[in-house]
Amino acid sequence: MTINWKLQAFILSASLWIAAPAAFGGGAEVYAKNCASCHGKDGKGETVMGKKAKVKDYTDAKVQASFTDAEALKMILEGKEKMKAYKDKVTEAEAKELVAYIRTFKK
Ligand code: HEC
Repeated sequence: MTINWKLQAFILSASLWIAAPAAFGGGAEVYAKNCASCHGKDGKGETVMGKKAKVKDYTDAKVQASFTDAEALKMILEGKEKMKAYKDKVTEAEAKELVAYIRTFKK
């Protein structure tokens, strides 16, 4: 029985390990790598670069309402002014995950 219990615990932790990146990775990881320097880990944009570039606070519901998913997607892929295009760095699928991820900042 003890062996069985250990084996079950092992399988459980192993499957959590595998499932976690699929559930929380994607957008979060790509965001941390490419976007957090300006938009901040928490989406508030309170970073040195974010303040300089005057990025918006994505925890603010009014800011979230000011752009559609399609506009956000276009911004990420094609860029605008201070924000450069990311279409060489992220795939369209990743960009869509980024849009979904940005939506999670809203309080
Ligand atoms: C160099 C700093 C910088 C980086 C890095 C950056 N952004 Fe931006 N981002 C900006 C600025 C500045 C704006 C506002 C541009 C404007 O309205 O002219 C903006 C606008 C946006 C918008 C449109 C909504 C809005 O606030 O007007 C989205 C969505 C967005 N960024 C997502 C991202 C994502 C996702 C990444 C990573 C792939 C990223 N940004 C990386 C500076 C940055």
